[in-house]
Amino acid sequence: MSDLKDYLKAQQKSVDTALNSFLPRAKVRPATIHEAMRYSIFAGGKRLRPILTLAAAEACGGEEEAALPPACAVEIMHTYSLVHDDLPSMDDDDLRRGRPTSHKVYGEGMAVLTGDALLTEAFTILAETPPTKRYPLKEILLEFSICGGSRKLIGGQVLDLEGEGKNLSKAQLVRIHENKTAALLTTSLRLGGMTANATPRQLEALTDFGYNLGLAFQVIDDILDVTQSTEKLGKTAGKDEAVDKATYPSIIGLEKSKKEAQRLTKKSLASLSVFGKKSSRLEEIAHYLLDREY
Ligand code: IPE
Ligand code: IPE
Ligand code: MG
Ligand code: MG
Ligand code: MG
Repeated sequence: MSDLKDYLKAQQKSVDTALNSFLPRAKVRPATIHEAMRYSIFAGGKRLRPILTLAAAEACGGEEEAALPPACAVEIMHTYSLVHDDLPSMDDDDLRRGRPTSHKVYGEGMAVLTGDALLTEAFTILAETPPTKRYPLKEILLEFSICGGSRKLIGGQVLDLEGEGKNLSKAQLVRIHENKTAALLTTSLRLGGMTANATPRQLEALTDFGYNLGLAFQVIDDILDVTQSTEKLGKTAGKDEAVDKATYPSIIGLEKSKKEAQRLTKKSLASLSVFGKKSSRLEEIAHYLLDREY
């Protein structure tokens, strides 16, 4: 475990270094927006998605260096989605990554623009991805744009908002989680695989792994909202119940939710067999996420 902790720290550091070099400097005019972009990006955060990109590249026998542009792109897309997710017109949150949310610091208009700018910047950085034999840049761009669009991430956020205050079925909740969360985890892994010229079989395995890991990840996010403190989470605890969100604990209860997270994690791990020892980091990450406390 301590080895994994060191690994995660080292990966976070290389992602942060790359993010710092890719993003416009804070002084570039107009400075407010560049400062605000950096404020949300460098507020902390687990850097899970970019770490998955790097680990997927490794599992497919590729170089981490080539996977850094898509790793940064997925983290930036994720951060933009959080800036907008926290807006008063969405989840209305004051705290994110242990800091006041973007709109609390810069105002609502600027937070909307910060999200817009981050999303656009993500594409600029993604364009730096070196294409491979099987995956030309067009394929890489489509993977990313479809994931972030109305069919997936945004679609999931739409269903999430529309589900507030309603009694959803478990199947309806799964559809929300697939799209708002699992899609980006899956794309993070697939992009890493693409930079390593993954075989179709390897890419399929990453897709299945990401789907189940992504579902498990959101079930755990819902559980932590109930069981952890605001301090530990770095975001307001108990928020889902307060706004009557459809979540796993609210629909099937806390104990069954924990079982569901375990089941999904186990299912995700079964997809990794095609990689042999090369996917040991992905395996460790899946175990670690199940036991995470924030
Ligand atoms: C929070 O994601 C939003 C969800 C999709 C559940 P993370 O828990 O990965 O947030 P950070 O990046 O560590 O802040
Ligand atoms: C966020 O889900 C999903 C996206 C931002 C796409 P949540 O609303 O559950 O995330 P938190 O709990 O605010 O981090
Ligand atoms: Mg939300
Ligand atoms: Mg939220
Ligand atoms: Mg949540």
